This record gives sequence, structure tokens and C-alpha cells, in this order.
Amino acid sequence: MMNHSLSILDAFTPRLIEWYTAYGRHDLPWRNGYNPYHVWVAEIMLQQTQVNRVAENFYNQFLVKFPDVQTLAQQHWEDVYPSWKGLGYYRRGQSMIKAAQAIVEEHNGEFPIDRDALLALPGIGKYTAAAILSFAFDQKIPAVDTNISKILKILAPRRNLFKLSHQLIEQAESGRQWNEAMMDLASHLRTGGSVEGPLSDFFSEEIRSKFLPQPRAKKIKTTTKKPRKNKKIIEVGVACIHDNNKYLIQTRADDKSFAGQWEFPGGKREKGENFRTCVQREVMEEIGIEVSVRPYFFMELHHFETCDLLLKFHRCQIQSGTPKPLEKQEIKWAHVSEFDQINFLKTNAKALAAIKKFKQ
Ligand code: ADE
Repeated sequence: MMNHSLSILDAFTPRLIEWYTAYGRHDLPWRNGYNPYHVWVAEIMLQQTQVNRVAENFYNQFLVKFPDVQTLAQQHWEDVYPSWKGLGYYRRGQSMIKAAQAIVEEHNGEFPIDRDALLALPGIGKYTAAAILSFAFDQKIPAVDTNISKILKILAPRRNLFKLSHQLIEQAESGRQWNEAMMDLASHLRTGGSVEGPLSDFFSEEIRSKFLPQPRAKKIKTTTKKPRKNKKIIEVGVACIHDNNKYLIQTRADDKSFAGQWEFPGGKREKGENFRTCVQREVMEEIGIEVSVRPYFFMELHHFETCDLLLKFHRCQIQSGTPKPLEKQEIKWAHVSEFDQINFLKTNAKALAAIKKFKQ
């Protein structure tokens, strides 16, 4: 993991602004004029709705009907509802009317340029207050949401995010521009874009892949099969260790059933273990690496002649070490697109199908 020293981080803000100038989303409709009311409307809409939907279907239409804070303050929710319909989270719209009334009554119809006064308005939290102060009034206040935190953590894993964001924004000429640039960079990274030109030193391929949203591991239980009373149940924790849509797989050793077929690492849960610690131990024993283990995404019970076999499949990522075949097996990384050509154990078939359905 990269841990930039301060001097390297000093280069970040100028490079960020250069990147933003070349690649930023300069045509978003709320990046125009920066009227505080407009900024506020955009930020509230963007709290829970995607940028494209707000830009295409809601933002301009709302401002045509309710062009200023005075107009909005005079509305009842029934009048605003048709313009909000489809955005969801109606409480946001209802709070906006109340906030507009407070701005008219308590602040002479002007947006307060003060964090505490903004925070006292209905529906405005720390993030939105920071966004309004920076976008509308160009203050050097970082608007740090979860995506921007993620960028900051990548840049300097051990630094205090609050201090770091303030230091970085201070180095920009415009707080507004810094926040816009960070938002655009976060959006770009989340959609899998490569980081060109001025920022390429800061975002290697490896770091970019960490930024991508993890595929949702929807928990699927399968089979209507139930454990049988007269059979022993064997519980197995399975490690689906992945990196960039490749999975680490191994052959079954010669002394095991189905020798030579491919499988995911893993093994029987022992007394005193939970599935996570079982998977971690098995992976260490079989391939000598430490892994992080997510809750299982797929579970299946098989009836065999002599026992019931319960398999729980967990997505895992390497924390430390290099995979080595420690039990005379063969190991390899297999891309999801190769799964169909590999002779996997039958008992892995449904889990493999579930993996293929993850967003790649
Ligand atoms: N998300 C929240 N605020 C935003 C903004 N001003 N521009 C783009 N995306 C955003």
C-alpha cells in the first residue's frame, strides 16, 4: 500500500486540479453560477440520487417551478410533490420547504455563510453544509463523503482524514474547484476509469482495482435438502480468493477422492472454529497465505452415501504472503471467463455459477 510522504502529497492538489481541468465534469447543470439556492437544491437531490438522473430529470425542472428560496418557502408539500416524484426519500423535499421558510424568516431570504447556521436548518448535515460553503461561497472546506474518504485513505492510509483533507484543500486556489475535482475523481474511479496524465503516479492499476465497488455477495442458500438425522454432517469452509476477477484454485491431491479435479481451497471446520477461522486456517495450511474472509455468499448441502456435506463459500482477499502449493497440489489463478473450461468438482458448480453472476 502506498504511503506517500508529505512531500509527495504536496504534489497531489496541483495535479488534481490539472486532472480536473482536463477531465472534470464541467457541464453539470449546477456548476454554473453557483447561486447558493441552486447549489443547495442540487446537493439535497444528490444526497440519494445519481448524478445523471438528477441532471437529466429533476434539477432544471425543479428550478423552473421554484426559482428561488422565497417561492419555495410559500409552497405546501402537495405543490412540490409532483416535482419530487421519482426522486424518492420525500422527507428531503419536505425538509427543504421548512428550511426555505427558516431562511426567509430568520436570514432575510439569504443563505447564511456560516456553518452552524447552516447546520441548524432542516435537512442540512455536515457534508451538505461543507458542500454549500465551498460551492456557493468558494470556501476552502472539504466536503468529504465515503468515496472521497476512500481516496484519502488510499493516498495516506495512516493519516487523519480530517486534517489531511484540510491540508490538501488549502493548497488549492479554489475550495470549490478542489471539491468538484475530488467528486469527479471519485466518480471516475468508481466507474472503473483509468487515471490519466497528471494523477497517474497516484493511482496505479492495483490501487484502482481496490477502489472499484466490490461485487455484491448476495447470500444464496440452495437446495431443499435438509440434514439427515442418521448421517454425520461434515461442514466445510471454502475460500474463493479473488483478485481482479481471477480466482485462486487448486487440484485435489492424489490421495483424495476426485484426485486431479479443480476446487477452491478450504476444508473441514474443526471444533472451536467458526467458518471464518476455519477458512483462514485451511488457506494457510494449503497455500501459505493470510486472507480476509467475508461472510459466505453461497451455501449448499449435499447428501452423500455416508454423510451430509455442508459447504459454505466465502469470498476472500489476500492480506499477506504469496500462494504456494504446500500439499503437493497444483495451484493457479483462473479468470471467471475460463471457468467453463476447467474440470471443477461437481460440488462447486452452483457456487461457480453464482460467482459468474457477480458484477464483473
Ligand atoms: N455529488 C454530490 N454533490 C455533487 C456535485 N456537486 N457534483 C457531482 N456530484 C455530486
